[in-house]
Amino acid sequence: MDQTKIFLNDSQMPKKWYNLAADLPTPMLPPLTPDGKPLSPQMLEAVFPKNLIEQEISRKRWIDIPQEIAAILYRWRPSPLRRAIHLERYLKTPAKIYYKDESVSPSGSHKTNTSVAQAWYNKQAGIKKLTTETGAGQWGTALSFACHLLGLECKIYMVRVSFDQKPMRKVMMQIWGGNCVASPSQQTQTGRDVLARMPDTPGSLGIAISEAVEEAVLDKSGKTRYALGSVLNHVLLHQTIIGLEAQKQLKKIGIKKPDVVIGCAGGGSNFAGLAFPFTCDKIHGQKIDIIPVESEAAPKMTQGRFAYDFGDVAGMTPLLPMYTLGHKFIPPAIHAGGLRYHGMAPLVSQAIVEGLMRPHAVDQLHSYEAAILWARTEGFIIAPETSNALACVIEEAKKATREGKQKVILFNLSGHGLLDLSGYEKYLNGKLESSQVSRKSIQKSLDSLKVFKTAPRRKSGKW
Ligand SMILES: Cc1ncc(COP(=O)(O)O)c(C=O)c1O
Repeated sequence: MDQTKIFLNDSQMPKKWYNLAADLPTPMLPPLTPDGKPLSPQMLEAVFPKNLIEQEISRKRWIDIPQEIAAILYRWRPSPLRRAIHLERYLKTPAKIYYKDESVSPSGSHKTNTSVAQAWYNKQAGIKKLTTETGAGQWGTALSFACHLLGLECKIYMVRVSFDQKPMRKVMMQIWGGNCVASPSQQTQTGRDVLARMPDTPGSLGIAISEAVEEAVLDKSGKTRYALGSVLNHVLLHQTIIGLEAQKQLKKIGIKKPDVVIGCAGGGSNFAGLAFPFTCDKIHGQKIDIIPVESEAAPKMTQGRFAYDFGDVAGMTPLLPMYTLGHKFIPPAIHAGGLRYHGMAPLVSQAIVEGLMRPHAVDQLHSYEAAILWARTEGFIIAPETSNALACVIEEAKKATREGKQKVILFNLSGHGLLDLSGYEKYLNGKLESSQVSRKSIQKSLDSLKVFKTAPRRKSGKW
C-alpha cells in the first residue's frame, strides 16, 4: 500500500537551523545605508535586538535551536509530509507529489516557525513590545500567538485590502491579544502621508512595513522592536526546519532526493524554508529543479530587476540587494495578499542570480483553478498564496506525464485557506479577475529605481 502520511517523532525534530549563506558559491552582497554606504550591524539596533542581528549577518552553516523555542514548536512540529495521491490519480501522472503540511500550526501557516523564534529572542533581549506588518493576516496572527506565549505586547499594521477581505484574521489576532489596525493608518506619519496622497489606496506590504518600523523606532522607552515575517536572512533561517524535516521524511520512505522542489514566494520565507536544505544538496552535486513561484500581480523575479532597493515604501529599511519591482510599486488587490510584495529575499535573489533556482509566475485565475481542484481531490482548502505553488506543481506533474518520467515533486503547503473564503466565493461566482500587471506600470516603477546603486550580478557559472 502507498504510504500517504510520513511522520517524525518529537525527538527527530531538527536541533539546528540551516544557513544557506554559508554555502552560496558567491558571497552575499552586503546591505547598504540609504546613501549607499556599508551598513554596520549597530545601525540596525533601533529596529531589531542584537541576538537577531547576529543571526542576520551570520555565515555559520548551522545555528542551534534553543531548547525553549523547540519546546513551543513541539506543539505542532514535526509537521507531516503527505503524498497527494488523489491529485496524482486525477492527473494520471507518473509523478509522485509530496507536500509538507505547514497548515497544522496554531495560526494555520508556516509563519509560526519564525514568530516564536523572533518573540523568544526579543524577550531574551528585554523587549516588551513588537510591531509588525501583515498582508493576508497569516503573519499577524502568527506573531500575536507567539507574543501571547512569551508575554509581549503586539501591534499589527494590516494591509487595508486584506483587512477588508479577511476580517476574521483580525479576530484571531485579538484572541491572542494582538492589536490590529488597517494600513495605511492615521497612527503614523507614513500612513498619514500616504492617505493624504491616495485616500482610497488598497495599501501594500511596503507601506505597512514603514508604519510598523516607524512606531518601533519612535518609542522612546527603547523597549519596542519591529519583527518582519519574511525577506530577511534570520527569518528564512528559522523556516529551514521545514526542509530539514522533509529531507528526513523522504529518506524514511527510501527517496534519496526530490526531482523538483516548489514553494510560493511572497518575500521568500516558506519557499526558502523548504528549498534551502535542498539547495545545499544541489550545490553539492545533486540534480534538483528548484522553483520559487510568484504571482503575476507582483512579478519581481520574472520581470523585476536585481538591484539595491528599500524593503518598504518610505525607505526606512536599509538598501537590500534583491529582485525588485521598485519599493513604490503597489500590486493589484489580489487575494493572495502575502504575495503582494515588491521584492524578494536577498538570499533567494542571490541563489537565482547564481542559477540555482528557476522562478515562475502564476495568474490569480490559474491559482484558484488549482486550489479548487486540490479541494475536490485531496479535500483540503488551501491558502490563496499556496495555490500559486500548487498551480506550478500541476504543470510540473503534467510535464512528467508528457515526458513519461516518474519524478518526485515536493512542495510546501504553506497554509490553509479557511479564513480566505471570500476569494473562493468570487472565483466560484465568476467574479475573480486575472492578476497580470501591465509591462508599462512595471517599467514606470523600475525607472524610479535608477537612482539606486546597481547590484553586481556575481555568479560562479556552475549552474
Ligand atoms: C499561507 C502563506 N503562504 C505564503 C506566504 C508568502 O510569504 P513568504 O514568501 O514569506 O512565505 C504568506 C504570507 O503572508 C502566507 O500567509
